[in-house]
Amino acid sequence: MLSEKQKLDTLMLLGIELNRIHDLDILLERVLTRARQFVNADAGSIYIRQGDRLIFAQSQNDTLQSKLPVGEKLIYQTFSVAVDPTSIAGYAAATGKLLNIPDVYTLSPDKRYQFSRRFDQASGYVTRSMLTIPLITSKKEILGILQIINAQDHEKRIRPFSQTDEKVMLHFAGMAAVALERAQMTRAMILRMIRMAEMRDPRETGPHVNRVADFSLEIYEHWARRRHIPEKEIDKTRDVLRMAAMLHDVGKVATSDLILKKPTQLSSEEYEVMKQHTIQGARLFSNVQSDYDEAAAIIALNHHEKWDGSGYPGHVDPATGQPLPGHEGKAGEALPGKKGEEIPIFGRIVAIADVYDALSSRRCYKDPWDEANSIETISQGAGTHFDPELVEIFLNRFAFIRAIQDRYTEKEVGEEDPDWR
Ligand code: C2E
Ligand code: SIN
Ligand code: SIN
Ligand code: SIN
Ligand code: FE
Ligand code: FE
Repeated sequence: MLSEKQKLDTLMLLGIELNRIHDLDILLERVLTRARQFVNADAGSIYIRQGDRLIFAQSQNDTLQSKLPVGEKLIYQTFSVAVDPTSIAGYAAATGKLLNIPDVYTLSPDKRYQFSRRFDQASGYVTRSMLTIPLITSKKEILGILQIINAQDHEKRIRPFSQTDEKVMLHFAGMAAVALERAQMTRAMILRMIRMAEMRDPRETGPHVNRVADFSLEIYEHWARRRHIPEKEIDKTRDVLRMAAMLHDVGKVATSDLILKKPTQLSSEEYEVMKQHTIQGARLFSNVQSDYDEAAAIIALNHHEKWDGSGYPGHVDPATGQPLPGHEGKAGEALPGKKGEEIPIFGRIVAIADVYDALSSRRCYKDPWDEANSIETISQGAGTHFDPELVEIFLNRFAFIRAIQDRYTEKEVGEEDPDWR
């Protein structure tokens, strides 16, 4: 078992590592967009290999997208295919071979792999030409596949993929695989660090931090769009926010297990100790070297502030834990919290994401609440605990919140637990 001091030292390394982070999902989204641009393709997907399954990780489809209101995303599909030669994607992943199919509906029936009509049937989309490229690292590991669908000519008529397309995409997939490998290693390392610190049940850690991060992105994106923040900037911020939101509770490593894992209600003394995780977390990132450190410090410090000023830790200097000048409060009374827009936007966003996830999940001290009660608590908190505008966005986006929950569900002990998601 690591001592609290060792845990803190280990976590200090995170500050350094954060400078090199690029979030995997955001990276994949970019890879796919670029790949499609190269061949003017209407649609495409990236699947990531997880053991003997390919998991649908990203999907873009201009035709289906154009039927949605501006700014709306296609709902994330939880979708997986076996790595075996019976499907197109599975064949490419199992054999490492590229497949260039001019029309999936006229695929010869004597091929081992066959086109699955499931997606087309569910979406009303018509897939025709399809280029499927394995993502292979320099060590010959197959990390997933890139699948590009319906290449178009200048008149937007669907055309088969050419040999030149194949060459370009192979080169591109090679670069994508290297980038993917690096992102996966960084992710794995961060998750291992969080686990090493034994903050809590390891089954809980990965899914929880991923859900809080993705809920936060969902809220941020719509908050930013309302303010007409340029898409480029939103994109960049998403990258920073995702990583930083995952780390909102890292300051808990400085909290003793007796308190952290207590199966019942904390005493008021214990709760006072617990509240220090905000300040401890901010300290881990106090040596600001990048946007990542800055955002991580802001979120750690501010995710328990409340809109009406009743949260914690208030206006304090994380280095000392003491009140900032002008915010000393009244002698003998608890320090007032930050109020309204004094609370940085990332803090206000992660507050909603964190509480919703705490309510709807199992914790060592509570059973999961059902969805209706969890939503009700968030709604009731608008204007008291939470920024009311952000609550409105959260509720509007609830279908997407649910899709994120489906994507990151808790695992039973012994189940495969890939380090990277
Ligand atoms: P957490 O488990 O991540 O919970 C985050 C926040 O979700 C809480 O912040 C609180 O605002 C909300 N929340 C969680 N469970 C409930 C609930 O049952 N009812 C309501 N209304 N809200 C809930 P808070 O209270 O500042 O707690 C911060 C952290 O302190 C928690 O993080 C958890 O690690 C710990 N903690 C809080 N209460 C207890 C407890 O009774 N027992 C133990 N062992 N830990 C606790
Ligand atoms: C995305 O990159 O499409 C969103 C991030 C996520 O859901 O992880
Ligand atoms: C990341 O988002 O890259 C950090 C870790 C993870 O998602 O597993
Ligand atoms: C964890 O689950 O270990 C960290 C994050 C949290 O409790 O909010
Ligand atoms: Fe917290
Ligand atoms: Fe939390």
